[in-house]
Amino acid sequence: MDKNKFSGRTALVTGGGSGIGAALCRALAVGGAQVVCTDLDGDAAARVAADLPDARSARLDVTDADAVQRVVDDVDCPDLLFNNAGIVFGGETTDLTLGQWNQIIDVNLRGVVHGIAAAYPRMVARGSGHIVNVASLAGLLPSGLLTSYVTTKHAIVGLSLALRSEAAAHGVGVTVVCPGAVDTPILDKGSVGRIVARDLFLQGKQRPYDVDRLAAEVLRAVAADRAMVVTPRSGRLAWRFGRAAPLLLNRAATRFVGQQRARAAER
Ligand SMILES: NC(=O)c1ccc[n+]([C@@H]2O[C@H](COP(=O)([O-])OP(=O)(O)OC[C@H]3O[C@@H](n4cnc5c(N)ncnc54)[C@H](O)[C@@H]3O)[C@@H](O)[C@H]2O)c1
Repeated sequence: MDKNKFSGRTALVTGGGSGIGAALCRALAVGGAQVVCTDLDGDAAARVAADLPDARSARLDVTDADAVQRVVDDVDCPDLLFNNAGIVFGGETTDLTLGQWNQIIDVNLRGVVHGIAAAYPRMVARGSGHIVNVASLAGLLPSGLLTSYVTTKHAIVGLSLALRSEAAAHGVGVTVVCPGAVDTPILDKGSVGRIVARDLFLQGKQRPYDVDRLAAEVLRAVAADRAMVVTPRSGRLAWRFGRAAPLLLNRAATRFVGQQRARAAER
């Protein structure tokens, strides 16, 4: 990231205490932004902020709309808002409770909506700003055994592209980030039953993507006001294939589900 690219700008990151959010905070700091690192885990957010110049932290649960509004107001609306906080459940949909369905919708979808409701009208009034929503390749490719996650991430892609088309005339940018597996702690969270979430994220690949490389790509996309970041290249190819032949892609997804079930049965 070029130094000073974001100098004088405030950047609020949700879920900034770990993984992609923490990498975004680091890259934004290198770019000269004043970073507000927030997370449900306030201590983790504070640890990330402590290593950065000109950074603050706050405990923030994105499912709490009032709390999101307060943090946005505290910084007089950030110039850059990164709706990044997210959770996953990987496993059979038969094993998913209604409580888990509601939890993932609350964090991954309502959490983003809360950020937009708090900041977007202020950005429009100001005539500038940029919102980055971290979705996933799962927002473009419907992979089974990640069904609840796919549901929320597809919503984020739709929300982001629709909002972008409204926001452009107001001088506000919107970028949606759709990475495949990235090397962060989420890979080892959210396994339901015997299915392993890490295997679902990796989709047969050997290695997850480097988190700092992703953060740098995201900030380049923001600087260039690009609509989407879809990465890695194999993910872009799968997305293109899926748009040309959605039912063939779904057949491949069905095969993958079968393979994962067989692996789970051997455990
Ligand atoms: N790592 C990947 O492979 C990958 C791939 C595609 C998309 N993503 C998306 O990237 C985003 C960041 O994930 P990550 O990989 O860095 O995971 P992570 O688990 O390392 O970090 C997620 C952070 O979000 C926080 N969080 C969870 N619930 C919250 C809530 N209610 N309010 C505020 N913060 C909350 C957690 O405390 C954690 O610090 C997520 O939206 C995830 O879906 C990740």
